[in-house]
Amino acid sequence: MKLDKLGIGFVGSGFSARFHLHGLVGVRGAEVVAVHSRSEASAREFAGLAERLGVGRPKVYPDLNSLLSDKNVNAVWVITPNDTHSTYVKEIAEEASQGRGNLRGVAVAKPLARNVREAREMLRAVERAGLLHGYLETEVFMPSFIKGRNVVWEMGAKNSGRPYLARAAEEHSGPHNWWFWRPSISGGGVTMDMACHSVESTRLMLLNPSKGKESLKPRSIYAEVASLKWTKPAYSSQLRQRFSVDFIAEPAEDYSLVTVSYEDEEGGLVLTESRSSWNFVGAGLRLSLEVLGPEYSLYVNTLQPESFIFLSRNVKVQASEAFVEKQNADQGLMPVIPDEPVTYGYQNADRHMVESFTRGVMPTENFNDGLLVTQLIMHAYMSAERGSKVRFNPTEVEDYVPKVAKGEWRPS
Ligand SMILES: NC(=O)c1ccc[n+]([C@@H]2O[C@H](COP(=O)([O-])OP(=O)(O)OC[C@H]3O[C@@H](n4cnc5c(N)ncnc54)[C@H](OP(=O)(O)O)[C@@H]3O)[C@@H](O)[C@H]2O)c1
Repeated sequence: MKLDKLGIGFVGSGFSARFHLHGLVGVRGAEVVAVHSRSEASAREFAGLAERLGVGRPKVYPDLNSLLSDKNVNAVWVITPNDTHSTYVKEIAEEASQGRGNLRGVAVAKPLARNVREAREMLRAVERAGLLHGYLETEVFMPSFIKGRNVVWEMGAKNSGRPYLARAAEEHSGPHNWWFWRPSISGGGVTMDMACHSVESTRLMLLNPSKGKESLKPRSIYAEVASLKWTKPAYSSQLRQRFSVDFIAEPAEDYSLVTVSYEDEEGGLVLTESRSSWNFVGAGLRLSLEVLGPEYSLYVNTLQPESFIFLSRNVKVQASEAFVEKQNADQGLMPVIPDEPVTYGYQNADRHMVESFTRGVMPTENFNDGLLVTQLIMHAYMSAERGSKVRFNPTEVEDYVPKVAKGEWRPS
């Protein structure tokens, strides 16, 4: 049955949840009706922001079950640290199975889970509960990605042949909260945190839109990971001061290169490369994407927007992220991204989930995609540990946990 309006309950009220609130400003047919967070204070702050943005007047719930029993909540956005995704989703699915609330869908931030076992349990739980499920992989909803993919396939591929190489890089100067720097909690380093974006955006760039997702078959994965910066004493002590994290005792990779080779619909080889870094010091978060085909190429770089501002050395402003996320400077030439939740894909992702849940259909980007991304990321860690290319073999990663998540990885 089609709903007139989707009531959304948020679980989590941090950095990414706030981006989603901003994204929802431009989405019709949705209202943020509820929020639960670990601390009531930040849930209240989030509720205030929702009200100021005009996207709802969410009730603040001190526990998840009371949020789920609220009949106005039709869908839940789970935007919490990686280690909590599977627990929250299983609790949500359990409540939905009991039929107490009015729930039809659940959407979860990337990475879906820290390993395949968690991702598999989440998928099983929502399927058993009959819930629709969405994977909030924002990058594949970026307007530049969507338009770029249309142009690649409608013009380039139609006239000269399919694309054969997609490269993406997601780079910034390091995450904003302590738990990202604890691989035993987050599940890994930059590969877990950021390669999950690029692995999915490059896969979908090479996927023929007129064929099913299974038409592009992963064949092998090769990965190189390293700690280039943050385990050096000067930088690990910064982490100790900022986040009380001991990155020497429990290190994680801050650089990774993941290549995945796929077999296309005609049995040909196509390749993706994903480069991720927590070491990029520049104007701010840089997402770049290149697609190469026989007679064309596409290039996206989020730090080349339409607007730039130059601030001379005589301007003294407080450190901020006013122009771009993870901004590293407050003087000189700065790119200005006018609406980051739009540019980075939050708004389109939210719109797609809202429209799908409202109509009662499965989002195109869902837990099955999140599971495949998790499998690919696990193969990447396995390849890096072995120092060699690995064949794509889902059975082999079913119970695999990377060394980095077990505190056993050491930078070489
Ligand atoms: N482009 C994207 O799609 C994108 C970008 C960034 C992050 N993410 C993903 O979004 C998720 C959240 O990241 P974030 O950057 O929003 O993190 P964050 O800023 O640290 O916020 C985490 C939020 O989760 C809440 N929370 C609930 N249960 C928690 C628990 N057991 N431990 C700690 N916090 C708990 C926190 O509550 P309190 O504030 O009440 O403590 C906080 O509101 C992660 O999975 C991350 O990978 C996605």
